[in-house]
Amino acid sequence: MTSILPHGGTLVNRVLGGEEREQLLLDSKNNKSLAINTWILSDLDLIAVGAFSPLSGFLNEKDYHSVVKDMRLSDGTVWSIPITLAVEDEIVSGLAVGDRVSLIGEEDGVVYGLLDIESIYTVDQTLEAQNVFGTTDPEHPGVSKLLARPTTYVGGPITVLNRPQPEKFGEFYFDPSETRKIFADKGWRTVVGFQTRNPVHRAHEYIQKCAMEVVDALFLNPLVGETKSDDVPANVRMKSYLALLENYYPEDRAFLGVFPAAMRYAGPREAIFHAMVRKNYGCTHFIVGRDHAGVGDYYGTYEAQEIFSNFTAEEIGITPLFFEHSFFCKKCGNMASSKTCPHPSEHHMALSGTKVRALLRDGKCPPPEFTRPEVAQILIEGMSQEVTA
Ligand code: ADX
Repeated sequence: MTSILPHGGTLVNRVLGGEEREQLLLDSKNNKSLAINTWILSDLDLIAVGAFSPLSGFLNEKDYHSVVKDMRLSDGTVWSIPITLAVEDEIVSGLAVGDRVSLIGEEDGVVYGLLDIESIYTVDQTLEAQNVFGTTDPEHPGVSKLLARPTTYVGGPITVLNRPQPEKFGEFYFDPSETRKIFADKGWRTVVGFQTRNPVHRAHEYIQKCAMEVVDALFLNPLVGETKSDDVPANVRMKSYLALLENYYPEDRAFLGVFPAAMRYAGPREAIFHAMVRKNYGCTHFIVGRDHAGVGDYYGTYEAQEIFSNFTAEEIGITPLFFEHSFFCKKCGNMASSKTCPHPSEHHMALSGTKVRALLRDGKCPPPEFTRPEVAQILIEGMSQEVTA
């Protein structure tokens, strides 16, 4: 069975049940409260179930500075993305270190959890943007989200009292403790995790299957939290993953479960973060292809692979599997990369994301060498619903 340790050694569990939960819910009526949006709610829940182990809460001041500057928590553990809770000035003025606050869904008023405030600190968002995203350009989707937040953060351990309920595809939500058990029950000793915020095209399938040749199984783990508005919506993608798995993957060697986190578009730093999280879910290997978690031209094609060389294999724990830019070569008659194909690029099938979207919007399937027809059909249907919506 897969025996990989969670990041930091222990799987964090901060979801409370039973009488203790009932009591804290009663007590929560007397707490100060903070309204949280769906992004923060997803971070809260992922911390609580151990997906973000070893984090046990939103970063306090010391850990925040250490993560922004050095990609490590203050105890030295590798951690590349600040998981923080920003609070409006007029609300933060009523809070103090030592307070226990209730975290309440801004849309539904549900008390999702509690935060024990350890520190309240004001940050330099320009520095955070530069270090985490490698740019301060407000056009960058991650930077624009960051700059839209208040500049004072509150940090400290959290406790979850109510879990967010998925609206759709609930059967594909698994906590890290569950995936670890599932992988073990299936007898998988090595599992490769695959992050995606896109439909699975032939290039994705190719690198997954190259990896599947050397490990026991694939954990297809699409990110389904907040993404930018021109990314394909998660419900359409989910249908496409199911069609693909049904038609092209061996049932006993691939497993689909969602990663309900928000997309940061932080390229290299997010690749490290994605790898740590998949380790927590029980994966032993993790795929990093070209421009992982990238957007526009902000990152070099292989920067998200190169960043791993800042750390030792022991510090990372999970084994990254790096893949070159892959494509269909008409001359080879198969999927390939510059590592396996000698032909010049005119023989390679290259379609930009914009071109693919345009085809799909016109109800046309991209070539089968680029996207499986079963997937294309679902994307065309998804697009037409988007247009008529
Ligand atoms: S991501 O933002 O979630 O990384 P995407 O869903 O496009 O975006 O990519 C998922 C994974 O596939 C990433 O590791 C990415 O580097 C890899 N990838 C995507 N397209 C290719 C390609 N043509 N060749 C090699 N790797 C690719």
